[in-house]
Amino acid sequence: MRERIDHLIAEIDSIKAASLDEVEQLRLKYLSKKGLVSVLFDDFKSVPSEKKREVGQLLNDLKNKAQERFDQLKSEFGTREDAVVSHLDLTRPVDHMEPGTRHPLSIVRKQIIDIFGRIGFSVADGPEIEDDWHNFSALNFTADHPARDMQDTFFISENPEIMLRTHTSSAQIRTMETRKPPIRMIFPGRVLRNEAISARAHCIFHQVEGLYIDKHVSFADLKQTLMYFAKEMFGEHTKIRLRPSYFPFTEPSGEMDVSCNICGGVGCNICKHSGWVEILGCGMVDPNVLENCGIDSQIYTGFAFGMGIERITMLKYQIKDLRLFFENDVRFLRQFTGAF
Ligand code: DAH
Repeated sequence: MRERIDHLIAEIDSIKAASLDEVEQLRLKYLSKKGLVSVLFDDFKSVPSEKKREVGQLLNDLKNKAQERFDQLKSEFGTREDAVVSHLDLTRPVDHMEPGTRHPLSIVRKQIIDIFGRIGFSVADGPEIEDDWHNFSALNFTADHPARDMQDTFFISENPEIMLRTHTSSAQIRTMETRKPPIRMIFPGRVLRNEAISARAHCIFHQVEGLYIDKHVSFADLKQTLMYFAKEMFGEHTKIRLRPSYFPFTEPSGEMDVSCNICGGVGCNICKHSGWVEILGCGMVDPNVLENCGIDSQIYTGFAFGMGIERITMLKYQIKDLRLFFENDVRFLRQFTGAF
C-alpha cells in the first residue's frame, strides 16, 4: 500500500498539462470517484487495523497533495488564458490628457474648512433628503409659521414630512441630537430650493453652517469668530458690519456684511454703491432649539451662522453670474488652474 501511495505522489508531482481541459482530464483520472486515488481509499478497508492509523494519514496526505497540485496547474492556465483574451496592447500610445482643475466652489469650500479648522472647528454633513423635524420644526419653525415661506421648499408629494433640505441648519440639529457639548463644528453641503434660475439664484447651491455650543459662549465670541473668518477669507483690511435680522432658530439674529473687496468700500456695481456686501446670517442659538435637541439651555449657550459658498466665491473671484458654476464650461473652469 505504501509503495502504491509513494508511486502516485511522484506521478502527480511530475504531471504536465498543455491546456485547462487536459488538467481537468487528469484531475478526473486521479481524483474522481473511480480515480486512482479514490481506489486506494477503497483498498484501505483491507488494511490490518494496527496499520490503519499510519496508512490513513498517508492516504490523506496524498489526497491533499493531489488537490493542491491540480489547483496550482489550474491557476497557471487561468492567468495565461485571461491574458490572451484581454487583447491588451500595452505598447499603444496614450491619448493626451490635460490635468483637470478644482471647481471654484471646491476651492472656496476647502478654504473655509481650513480657516475654521485653524480655530478648532471640525467638519460634518447631514443628508440632503430631510424630514420636517430636522429642516424646520426642531429649528423653531412651528407648523404654520410664516418664516417657512422664506425658503421655497421641494416637498415629496407622497409624503409632506420629507423634503430636500433648504439649508444646512438641519445638520446642526442632527449634531446636537447625537453629541454632547462642547460642540464646535462646521457643516458644508448642498442645499435645494424651488427658485427660478437666474444670474443671482439657483435651485441648487451650497452652504456652510457653523455651530459652537459650550458654557458661557457669548455674542462677543460670535463677532470675534466672524471677524477672524472675514479677514482670513478676504484680506487683513476687511471690515465687518452686523445688522439685526430675524431667523426662528437664533435670538438675537443678525446678518453680516463685509466691506466690498472690489472697490475697497468706496462703492461699485457689486456692492450696489453701498460699500458693503452681505455674506451670512448668524445669531445666538435659541434656547428652544437647544431644548429640542436635549441640551440644557440653563447650562449651555451657543452661536450659529450660515453662509452661501457661491456668494463668497463670486465675491472673491468677481464672478457675476451664478449659473456659471453649474454649466461645466471649460473656458470658465480652466481659469482656476492656479489652485492646483
Ligand atoms: N439657514 C439660514 C438660511 O439658509 C442661514 C442661517 C442664518 C444659518 C442664521 C444660521 C444662522 O445658522 O444662525 O437662510
